[in-house]
Amino acid sequence: MQYKSVKGMEDILPDGVRIWQEVERLARLELESAGYREIRTPVLEESPLFVRSIGEATDIVSKEMFTFEDRKGRPLTMRPEGTAPIVRAYIEHSLNSVYSEAEGLLYYIGPMFRAERPQKGRSRQFHQIGVERIGSRSPQVDAEVIIRLDRLLKRLGLDNFKIKLNSLGCKTDKENFSGKLKEYLDGNKSGLCDDCKDRIEKNVLRVLDCKSETCKAVLKNAPDMSGSLCGKCADHFAAVRAMLQVAGVEFEIAKNLVRGLDYYTGPVFEVTHQALGSQDAIGAGGRYDNLVKELGGPDVGAVGFAIGIERVIMALGDKKDILKPKIIYFAVLGNTARDRCLKLSEEVSKSINDDPCKLKAVVLVGLEGSSLKSQMRNADKQGAKFMIIMGEDEIARGEVAIRDMETKQQENKKFSEIIEHLKNNLG
Ligand code: HAM
Repeated sequence: MQYKSVKGMEDILPDGVRIWQEVERLARLELESAGYREIRTPVLEESPLFVRSIGEATDIVSKEMFTFEDRKGRPLTMRPEGTAPIVRAYIEHSLNSVYSEAEGLLYYIGPMFRAERPQKGRSRQFHQIGVERIGSRSPQVDAEVIIRLDRLLKRLGLDNFKIKLNSLGCKTDKENFSGKLKEYLDGNKSGLCDDCKDRIEKNVLRVLDCKSETCKAVLKNAPDMSGSLCGKCADHFAAVRAMLQVAGVEFEIAKNLVRGLDYYTGPVFEVTHQALGSQDAIGAGGRYDNLVKELGGPDVGAVGFAIGIERVIMALGDKKDILKPKIIYFAVLGNTARDRCLKLSEEVSKSINDDPCKLKAVVLVGLEGSSLKSQMRNADKQGAKFMIIMGEDEIARGEVAIRDMETKQQENKKFSEIIEHLKNNLG
């Protein structure tokens, strides 16, 4: 019997993990430097937390949660997202009173679970880097969170992504608009797909982001959400847009963007990337001003986002290799070379990896006794950028041969020049 990983849950193999580590390091750097602090919550939560916050009629709660009973019959769910658990922890530990100003600048990195149909860019265990900024209703905070998202994606090396922005308005606006939309759709039901006919009763806003062409045609004349915003929500949204413009964040208004989780109110956003297929959202978020109170906490506003690590890496394409450390391979030919290499390889590794937070180069040493050809093959297999050949003759001259494995150019360098040469050419 050969076992395989659970459907939709993938192993991340060592070569991939190097990229993940760098993504996580860069994310921590971006977020910590802006005052966010990491929070780690359990993977399991009591099921009602998600039902209450994400909403009973959403796809996530109605069909995608991994829910089971523990030994005492209590329903537990593997977290499908991070916002509800973070809010739960914020309330449970009274973080608002513990940290005053810095209270709710929180971020998290970790696995989430949704029993969706697996396909490219969609898995059942996936990983998010998320931010929750709890404690303020100011539009400045929405803008800061979106700026952070933009800077984070750029720091990870992404470009050509699109930030789409909309506002759902406050609870009353949302209810008013849902009523108007329902009325319109009830009168145009025949043109809708079966799912949307269902959604009219259960979750009418979701009809707006249906991908079916017939539904899109019906929606052309549907009431406009922006026309349903109250004065306060319209002003809030305008202020957010103005601040994003000042900060140089490019965005477009997407008037049918509604999001698949019920807790949102006010501005919502989604980031898409053209390199991805049908699952083109690399991240999303928005304001959720009622959730903290609804879950038993203080009446404070909040806003956040999450990006999917798998999708970010997929969108990076070949550029993801920049995130990997370079490999320097020492080929040793003979005992003298081996002994000299013990010291030299360590010196090289130490001086190149001079930043304690970033692994710039991995230094590998070939096995003395194996031929140059086999060490060269091994270096190639490991994806080495440079091979340093230490033969008896070179050593006698106080030199090594440095071979660029990509260009196949080889030159001799004095021991004293090696580190400088590698530093200048490692890229
Ligand atoms: P979400 O839109 O459900 O929002 O997920 C955010 C991101 O997680 C998506 O844009 C996507 O990149 C990734 N993602 C979601 N599902 C999958 C999947 N099955 N496979 C691979 N990647 C996936 C939230 O989760 C909210 N909690 C975001 C938020 C934070 N809003 C406020 N604060």
